[in-house]
Amino acid sequence: MDERMVSGSQTEFDDRFEQSLRPQFLSQYIGQDKVKDNLHIFVEAAKMRQESLDHVLLYGPPGLGKTTLAAVIANEMNVQIKMTSGPAIERPGDLAAIVSSLEPGDVLFIDEIHRLNRSIEEILYPAMEDFCLDIVVGKGPTARSVRFELPPFTLIGATTRAGALSAPLRDRFGVLLRLEYYETKHLTQIVERSASLFGAEVDSISASEIASRSRGTPRIANRLLKRVRDFAQVRANGSITETIAKEALELLQVDPLGLDHIDHKLLLHMMDRFQGGPVGLDTISASIGEESTTIEDVYEPYLLQIGFLQRTPRGRVVTKEAYDHFGRAFIEKK
Ligand SMILES: Nc1ncnc2c1ncn2[C@@H]1O[C@H](COP(=O)(O)OP(=O)(O)OP(=O)(O)O)[C@@H](O)[C@H]1O
Ligand SMILES: [Mg+2]
Repeated sequence: MDERMVSGSQTEFDDRFEQSLRPQFLSQYIGQDKVKDNLHIFVEAAKMRQESLDHVLLYGPPGLGKTTLAAVIANEMNVQIKMTSGPAIERPGDLAAIVSSLEPGDVLFIDEIHRLNRSIEEILYPAMEDFCLDIVVGKGPTARSVRFELPPFTLIGATTRAGALSAPLRDRFGVLLRLEYYETKHLTQIVERSASLFGAEVDSISASEIASRSRGTPRIANRLLKRVRDFAQVRANGSITETIAKEALELLQVDPLGLDHIDHKLLLHMMDRFQGGPVGLDTISASIGEESTTIEDVYEPYLLQIGFLQRTPRGRVVTKEAYDHFGRAFIEKK
Protein backbone atom coordinates (compact mmCIF):
# COMPACT_ATOMS: atom_id res chain seq x y z
CA MET A 1 0.00 0.00 0.00
CA ASP A 2 1.25 3.43 -0.85
CA GLU A 3 1.95 5.68 2.13
CA ARG A 4 0.79 8.73 0.32
CA MET A 5 -2.59 7.51 -0.79
CA VAL A 6 -5.20 10.21 -0.77
CA SER A 7 -7.73 10.47 2.01
CA GLY A 8 -10.33 8.18 0.47
CA SER A 9 -8.35 5.04 1.10
CA GLN A 10 -7.11 5.74 4.57
CA THR A 11 -8.10 3.53 7.40
CA GLU A 12 -10.29 4.92 10.11
CA PHE A 13 -7.36 4.82 12.45
CA ASP A 14 -5.27 6.97 10.17
CA ASP A 15 -8.15 9.41 9.85
CA ARG A 16 -8.38 9.79 13.59
CA PHE A 17 -4.63 10.13 13.80
CA GLU A 18 -4.66 12.91 11.19
CA GLN A 19 -7.55 14.58 12.93
CA SER A 20 -5.70 14.73 16.20
CA LEU A 21 -2.75 16.50 14.60
CA ARG A 22 -4.75 19.16 12.80
CA PRO A 23 -3.99 22.73 13.83
CA GLN A 24 -7.14 24.63 14.89
CA PHE A 25 -6.15 28.24 14.26
CA LEU A 26 -4.05 30.20 11.77
CA SER A 27 -1.43 30.82 14.45
CA GLN A 28 -0.87 27.04 14.72
CA TYR A 29 -0.88 26.48 10.98
CA ILE A 30 2.79 26.22 10.04
CA GLY A 31 4.20 27.57 6.75
CA GLN A 32 2.17 28.75 3.72
CA ASP A 33 2.90 32.31 4.81
CA LYS A 34 1.47 34.00 1.74
CA VAL A 35 -1.79 32.10 2.06
CA LYS A 36 -2.01 32.88 5.77
CA ASP A 37 -1.26 36.59 5.28
CA ASN A 38 -4.02 36.85 2.72
CA LEU A 39 -6.52 34.90 4.76
CA HIS A 40 -5.79 36.93 7.84
CA ILE A 41 -6.83 40.10 6.04
CA PHE A 42 -9.94 38.61 4.42
CA VAL A 43 -11.09 37.06 7.69
CA GLU A 44 -10.53 40.26 9.69
CA ALA A 45 -12.29 42.38 7.08
CA ALA A 46 -15.30 40.06 6.94
CA LYS A 47 -15.51 40.02 10.72
CA MET A 48 -15.31 43.82 10.94
CA ARG A 49 -18.14 44.14 8.44
CA GLN A 50 -20.01 41.31 10.17
CA GLU A 51 -20.38 39.60 6.83
CA SER A 52 -19.78 36.04 5.75
CA LEU A 53 -16.39 35.43 4.20
CA ASP A 54 -16.25 35.35 0.42
CA HIS A 55 -16.18 31.86 -1.18
CA VAL A 56 -12.72 30.32 -1.05
CA LEU A 57 -11.10 27.81 -3.40
CA LEU A 58 -8.12 25.93 -1.98
CA TYR A 59 -6.02 24.00 -4.44
CA GLY A 60 -2.75 22.09 -4.48
CA PRO A 61 -1.34 18.56 -4.27
CA PRO A 62 -2.72 16.03 -1.75
CA GLY A 63 -1.74 16.25 1.90
CA LEU A 64 -0.69 19.91 1.98
CA GLY A 65 -3.42 20.96 4.38
CA LYS A 66 -6.49 22.03 2.42
CA THR A 67 -9.03 20.27 4.64
CA THR A 68 -7.15 21.46 7.69
CA LEU A 69 -7.17 25.03 6.45
CA ALA A 70 -10.90 24.94 5.75
CA ALA A 71 -11.54 24.01 9.38
CA VAL A 72 -9.09 26.69 10.52
CA ILE A 73 -10.96 29.32 8.50
CA ALA A 74 -14.27 28.30 10.10
CA ASN A 75 -12.66 28.51 13.55
CA GLU A 76 -11.19 31.92 12.82
CA MET A 77 -14.59 33.13 11.61
CA ASN A 78 -16.19 31.58 14.68
CA VAL A 79 -18.72 29.61 12.64
CA GLN A 80 -19.68 25.98 12.10
CA ILE A 81 -18.31 23.93 9.24
CA LYS A 82 -20.32 21.33 7.33
CA MET A 83 -18.17 18.95 5.34
CA THR A 84 -19.01 17.03 2.22
CA SER A 85 -17.33 16.13 -1.05
CA GLY A 86 -18.02 16.34 -4.77
CA PRO A 87 -18.71 12.62 -5.28
CA ALA A 88 -20.91 12.47 -2.16
CA ILE A 89 -23.44 14.92 -3.60
CA GLU A 90 -25.21 12.73 -6.12
CA ARG A 91 -28.60 14.37 -6.36
CA PRO A 92 -29.88 17.94 -5.88
CA GLY A 93 -31.64 16.72 -2.74
CA ASP A 94 -28.26 15.82 -1.20
CA LEU A 95 -27.09 19.38 -1.66
CA ALA A 96 -30.40 20.80 -0.42
CA ALA A 97 -30.17 18.68 2.72
CA ILE A 98 -26.77 19.97 3.63
CA VAL A 99 -27.26 23.65 2.77
CA SER A 100 -30.59 23.80 4.56
CA SER A 101 -28.80 23.04 7.81
CA LEU A 102 -26.47 26.05 7.47
CA GLU A 103 -26.65 28.93 9.93
CA PRO A 104 -25.76 32.46 8.79
CA GLY A 105 -22.03 32.76 8.14
CA ASP A 106 -21.36 28.99 8.29
CA VAL A 107 -18.82 27.29 6.09
CA LEU A 108 -19.85 24.63 3.60
CA PHE A 109 -16.77 22.63 2.71
CA ILE A 110 -16.83 20.64 -0.52
CA ASP A 111 -13.76 18.46 -0.92
CA GLU A 112 -12.78 17.22 -4.39
CA ILE A 113 -15.02 19.88 -5.81
CA HIS A 114 -13.80 19.12 -9.35
CA ARG A 115 -15.78 15.88 -9.09
CA LEU A 116 -19.17 17.55 -8.65
CA ASN A 117 -21.51 16.56 -11.40
CA ARG A 118 -22.70 19.19 -13.82
CA SER A 119 -26.33 19.30 -12.70
CA ILE A 120 -25.28 19.91 -9.11
CA GLU A 121 -22.81 22.54 -10.22
CA GLU A 122 -25.59 24.42 -11.91
CA ILE A 123 -27.77 24.61 -8.82
CA LEU A 124 -24.72 25.68 -6.86
CA TYR A 125 -24.25 28.84 -8.97
CA PRO A 126 -27.31 30.72 -7.65
CA ALA A 127 -26.58 29.37 -4.18
CA MET A 128 -23.14 30.97 -4.31
CA GLU A 129 -24.26 34.21 -5.94
CA ASP A 130 -27.65 34.97 -4.48
CA PHE A 131 -27.90 32.51 -1.59
CA CYS A 132 -30.89 30.72 -2.99
CA LEU A 133 -31.50 27.22 -4.21
CA ASP A 134 -33.80 26.25 -7.06
CA ILE A 135 -34.86 22.66 -6.68
CA VAL A 136 -37.21 20.74 -8.94
CA VAL A 137 -39.77 18.81 -6.93
CA GLY A 138 -42.09 16.15 -8.28
CA LYS A 139 -41.80 14.25 -11.53
CA GLY A 140 -43.22 14.46 -15.04
CA PRO A 141 -46.00 16.96 -15.74
CA THR A 142 -46.40 17.90 -12.07
CA ALA A 143 -42.74 18.78 -11.64
CA ARG A 144 -42.12 22.35 -10.54
CA SER A 145 -39.19 24.40 -9.42
CA VAL A 146 -39.16 25.60 -5.83
CA ARG A 147 -36.90 28.37 -4.64
CA PHE A 148 -35.34 28.19 -1.17
CA GLU A 149 -33.70 31.16 0.47
CA LEU A 150 -30.40 30.34 2.15
CA PRO A 151 -28.56 32.23 4.84
CA PRO A 152 -25.34 33.88 3.65
CA PHE A 153 -22.67 31.21 3.88
CA THR A 154 -19.10 30.63 2.74
CA LEU A 155 -18.38 27.86 0.31
CA ILE A 156 -14.88 26.50 0.65
CA GLY A 157 -13.95 24.20 -2.19
CA ALA A 158 -10.81 22.05 -2.22
CA THR A 159 -9.24 20.38 -5.17
CA THR A 160 -5.98 18.82 -6.26
CA ARG A 161 -6.68 19.93 -9.80
CA ALA A 162 -7.87 23.48 -10.25
CA GLY A 163 -7.61 22.95 -13.98
CA ALA A 164 -10.40 20.38 -13.90
CA LEU A 165 -12.86 22.90 -12.47
CA SER A 166 -15.28 24.43 -14.94
CA ALA A 167 -14.62 28.11 -15.60
CA PRO A 168 -18.05 29.29 -14.39
CA LEU A 169 -17.56 27.51 -11.08
CA ARG A 170 -14.01 28.76 -10.64
CA ASP A 171 -15.09 32.33 -11.39
CA ARG A 172 -17.61 32.29 -8.57
CA PHE A 173 -14.91 31.98 -5.93
CA GLY A 174 -13.80 35.37 -4.62
CA VAL A 175 -10.63 33.99 -3.05
CA LEU A 176 -8.34 31.51 -4.79
CA LEU A 177 -5.50 30.14 -2.71
CA ARG A 178 -2.84 27.81 -3.95
CA LEU A 179 -1.02 25.71 -1.37
CA GLU A 180 2.65 25.10 -2.12
CA TYR A 181 4.97 22.28 -1.11
CA TYR A 182 6.45 23.09 2.31
CA GLU A 183 10.04 24.14 2.90
CA THR A 184 12.04 21.70 5.01
CA LYS A 185 12.29 24.18 7.89
CA HIS A 186 8.50 24.36 8.12
CA LEU A 187 8.10 20.61 7.83
CA THR A 188 10.64 20.23 10.60
CA GLN A 189 8.43 22.39 12.82
CA ILE A 190 5.43 20.27 11.84
CA VAL A 191 7.30 17.06 12.79
CA GLU A 192 8.31 18.60 16.11
CA ARG A 193 4.78 19.78 16.81
CA SER A 194 3.27 16.38 15.96
CA ALA A 195 5.89 14.57 18.02
CA SER A 196 5.09 16.69 21.04
CA LEU A 197 1.36 16.12 20.51
CA PHE A 198 1.73 12.39 20.74
CA GLY A 199 4.47 12.45 23.29
CA ALA A 200 7.34 11.19 21.14
CA GLU A 201 10.87 12.31 21.81
CA VAL A 202 12.61 13.59 18.73
CA ASP A 203 15.77 15.72 18.49
CA SER A 204 15.96 18.53 15.96
CA ILE A 205 18.39 16.76 13.62
CA SER A 206 16.11 13.73 13.37
CA ALA A 207 13.08 15.95 12.90
CA SER A 208 14.77 17.67 10.00
CA GLU A 209 15.89 14.30 8.58
CA ILE A 210 12.27 13.13 8.53
CA ALA A 211 11.15 16.50 7.17
CA SER A 212 13.62 16.51 4.30
CA ARG A 213 12.36 13.12 3.15
CA SER A 214 8.70 14.08 3.24
CA ARG A 215 8.35 15.54 -0.25
CA GLY A 216 7.26 18.91 1.05
CA THR A 217 4.07 17.31 2.39
CA PRO A 218 2.85 17.45 6.03
CA ARG A 219 0.76 14.29 5.66
CA ILE A 220 3.86 12.34 4.64
CA ALA A 221 5.91 13.96 7.42
CA ASN A 222 3.36 12.83 10.00
CA ARG A 223 3.23 9.31 8.58
CA LEU A 224 6.99 8.94 8.49
CA LEU A 225 7.22 10.26 12.02
CA LYS A 226 4.74 7.63 13.14
CA ARG A 227 6.73 4.84 11.51
CA VAL A 228 10.07 6.10 12.80
CA ARG A 229 8.59 6.25 16.26
CA ASP A 230 7.50 2.59 15.98
CA PHE A 231 11.01 1.71 14.92
CA ALA A 232 12.51 3.64 17.84
CA GLN A 233 10.21 1.84 20.22
CA VAL A 234 11.11 -1.63 19.03
CA ARG A 235 14.78 -1.16 18.20
CA ALA A 236 15.84 1.40 20.79
CA ASN A 237 14.52 2.94 23.99
CA GLY A 238 11.80 4.92 22.27
CA SER A 239 13.63 8.17 21.65
CA ILE A 240 14.21 9.14 18.06
CA THR A 241 17.83 9.90 17.26
CA GLU A 242 19.46 10.66 13.94
CA THR A 243 20.77 7.11 13.53
CA ILE A 244 17.39 5.61 14.39
CA ALA A 245 15.61 7.98 12.01
CA LYS A 246 17.97 7.16 9.14
CA GLU A 247 17.75 3.41 9.72
CA ALA A 248 13.98 3.52 9.89
CA LEU A 249 13.67 5.62 6.75
CA GLU A 250 16.00 3.27 4.95
CA LEU A 251 13.82 0.35 5.97
CA LEU A 252 10.77 2.22 4.68
CA GLN A 253 12.53 2.58 1.34
CA VAL A 254 12.35 6.34 1.42
CA ASP A 255 15.44 7.80 -0.20
CA PRO A 256 17.20 11.04 0.90
CA LEU A 257 15.00 13.09 -1.42
CA GLY A 258 11.85 11.43 -0.11
CA LEU A 259 11.33 9.35 -3.22
CA ASP A 260 9.85 5.93 -2.54
CA HIS A 261 9.77 2.69 -4.48
CA ILE A 262 6.98 3.87 -6.76
CA ASP A 263 8.83 7.05 -7.73
CA HIS A 264 11.88 4.89 -8.37
CA LYS A 265 9.90 2.44 -10.44
CA LEU A 266 8.37 5.24 -12.47
CA LEU A 267 11.67 6.97 -13.22
CA LEU A 268 13.61 3.75 -13.83
CA HIS A 269 10.98 2.41 -16.21
CA MET A 270 11.06 5.66 -18.13
CA MET A 271 14.87 5.54 -18.35
CA ASP A 272 15.21 1.83 -19.13
CA ARG A 273 12.25 1.16 -21.35
CA PHE A 274 11.64 4.50 -22.98
CA GLN A 275 15.11 6.06 -23.10
CA GLY A 276 13.96 8.75 -20.72
CA GLY A 277 10.96 9.77 -22.84
CA PRO A 278 9.01 11.54 -24.07
CA VAL A 279 6.39 9.06 -22.84
CA GLY A 280 2.64 9.59 -22.57
CA LEU A 281 1.00 9.38 -19.16
CA ASP A 282 -1.13 6.37 -20.12
CA THR A 283 1.90 4.48 -21.34
CA ILE A 284 3.71 5.14 -18.06
CA SER A 285 0.60 4.09 -16.20
CA ALA A 286 0.34 0.78 -18.07
CA SER A 287 4.05 0.15 -17.74
CA ILE A 288 4.24 0.49 -13.94
CA GLY A 289 0.70 -0.60 -13.12
CA GLU A 290 -0.41 2.56 -11.32
CA GLU A 291 -3.51 4.51 -12.26
CA SER A 292 -2.79 7.51 -14.41
CA THR A 293 -4.78 9.82 -12.14
CA THR A 294 -2.70 8.66 -9.18
CA ILE A 295 0.47 9.34 -11.12
CA GLU A 296 -0.79 12.73 -12.19
CA ASP A 297 -2.12 13.85 -8.80
CA VAL A 298 0.22 12.16 -6.36
CA TYR A 299 3.59 11.30 -7.88
CA GLU A 300 4.20 13.59 -10.78
CA PRO A 301 3.71 17.00 -9.12
CA TYR A 302 6.64 16.46 -6.78
CA LEU A 303 8.89 15.02 -9.49
CA LEU A 304 8.10 18.08 -11.59
CA GLN A 305 8.75 20.34 -8.62
CA ILE A 306 12.23 18.94 -7.98
CA GLY A 307 13.00 19.01 -11.68
CA PHE A 308 13.24 15.24 -12.23
CA LEU A 309 10.47 15.23 -14.79
CA GLN A 310 9.41 17.66 -17.43
CA ARG A 311 6.17 17.88 -19.30
CA THR A 312 6.41 18.39 -23.02
CA PRO A 313 3.72 18.38 -25.68
CA ARG A 314 4.89 14.89 -26.67
CA GLY A 315 4.85 13.44 -23.16
CA ARG A 316 6.90 13.26 -19.97
CA VAL A 317 10.68 13.43 -20.09
CA VAL A 318 13.22 12.39 -17.42
CA THR A 319 15.82 15.10 -16.79
CA LYS A 320 19.57 14.93 -16.31
CA GLU A 321 19.09 15.62 -12.57
CA ALA A 322 17.14 12.39 -12.24
CA TYR A 323 19.78 10.41 -14.16
CA ASP A 324 22.40 11.90 -11.80
CA HIS A 325 20.35 10.93 -8.75
CA PHE A 326 20.41 7.29 -9.87
CA GLY A 327 24.07 7.52 -10.89
CA ARG A 328 23.27 6.85 -14.52
CA ALA A 329 24.74 8.37 -17.63
CA PHE A 330 22.55 10.95 -19.28
CA ILE A 331 22.66 11.05 -23.04
CA GLU A 332 21.59 14.35 -24.53
CA LYS A 333 18.94 13.89 -27.19
CA LYS A 334 19.27 15.69 -30.48
N1 LIG B 1 0.29 23.89 7.97
C1 LIG B 1 0.21 22.79 8.70
N2 LIG B 1 0.70 22.75 9.93
C2 LIG B 1 0.65 21.62 10.64
N3 LIG B 1 0.11 20.45 10.20
C3 LIG B 1 -0.41 20.44 8.99
C4 LIG B 1 -0.39 21.60 8.17
N4 LIG B 1 -0.98 21.31 6.99
C5 LIG B 1 -1.34 20.02 7.06
N5 LIG B 1 -1.00 19.49 8.25
C6 LIG B 1 -1.22 18.10 8.66
O1 LIG B 1 -1.15 17.29 7.48
C7 LIG B 1 -2.21 16.35 7.44
C8 LIG B 1 -2.86 16.42 6.08
O2 LIG B 1 -3.55 17.65 5.90
P1 LIG B 1 -4.95 17.74 5.13
O3 LIG B 1 -5.74 16.51 5.36
O4 LIG B 1 -5.57 19.03 5.51
O5 LIG B 1 -4.46 17.79 3.63
P2 LIG B 1 -5.31 17.99 2.29
O6 LIG B 1 -4.62 19.04 1.49
O7 LIG B 1 -6.74 18.21 2.64
O8 LIG B 1 -5.13 16.60 1.55
P3 LIG B 1 -6.08 15.91 0.42
O9 LIG B 1 -5.82 16.64 -0.87
O10 LIG B 1 -5.59 14.49 0.37
O11 LIG B 1 -7.49 16.04 0.90
C9 LIG B 1 -3.13 16.68 8.60
O12 LIG B 1 -3.05 15.65 9.55
C10 LIG B 1 -2.60 17.94 9.23
O13 LIG B 1 -2.47 17.77 10.61
MG1 LIG C 1 -8.38 16.96 2.32
